[in-house]
Amino acid sequence: MPAIAYELPELPYDYDALEPHIDAETLRIHHDQHHRRYANDLNEVLADYPGLANHSIEALLWNLDRVPEEIYPLARFYGGGCANHQLFWKVMAPALAAADAPTGALADAIDEAFGGLDAFVEAFTDAALSVFGSGWAFLTTDEEGTLRIEATANNDNPLTDGRGALFVLDCWEHAYYLSYRHRRDEYVEAWWNVLDWATADDRYDRIPESIERFERERH
Ligand SMILES: [Fe+2]
Repeated sequence: MPAIAYELPELPYDYDALEPHIDAETLRIHHDQHHRRYANDLNEVLADYPGLANHSIEALLWNLDRVPEEIYPLARFYGGGCANHQLFWKVMAPALAAADAPTGALADAIDEAFGGLDAFVEAFTDAALSVFGSGWAFLTTDEEGTLRIEATANNDNPLTDGRGALFVLDCWEHAYYLSYRHRRDEYVEAWWNVLDWATADDRYDRIPESIERFERERH
């Protein structure tokens, strides 16, 4: 039996929990089909590399430069697909339960880096709308806590460049097409209602812990 590297995480809420902003059918297909497919494909790619299978999905991306050349493109694509979706589910919550603004250290860092929350939301929205084709928009931090908005193509994840994501927005059409058709701007505007800033606060506060963990898992 090949080692199972990656297990599809369950959604932390019901399929209809994010309505009306993200509809139940989209969420069901997105998680049960798209994310599952990435998980299956990743495990197939890693099946002959048990050394890689012993690490977390984040550590795989963190160590991507050490992945054997013959599986590098697929490990990057499927690994990123798994990690990005996993984080995407985590940072969302039903609109009534989602914290609608950052607090504490992250709020201060956003003020400093972007000149306030409204200016940040506008800049992040622009980045999400500027993703050409399929990709993702991230709020990332480096080891010093410096924030950055990053848009990536396909399934790339900034961890590969040593920066951790505080949250992520899926900009692939499969994330919104059923409800919003081609209108990504309406999807992004609605998505802010289900982004749970409390998860970003928490991730920002745990930067030292995350660095320690990744260093430990470095091959
Ligand atoms: Fe997706």
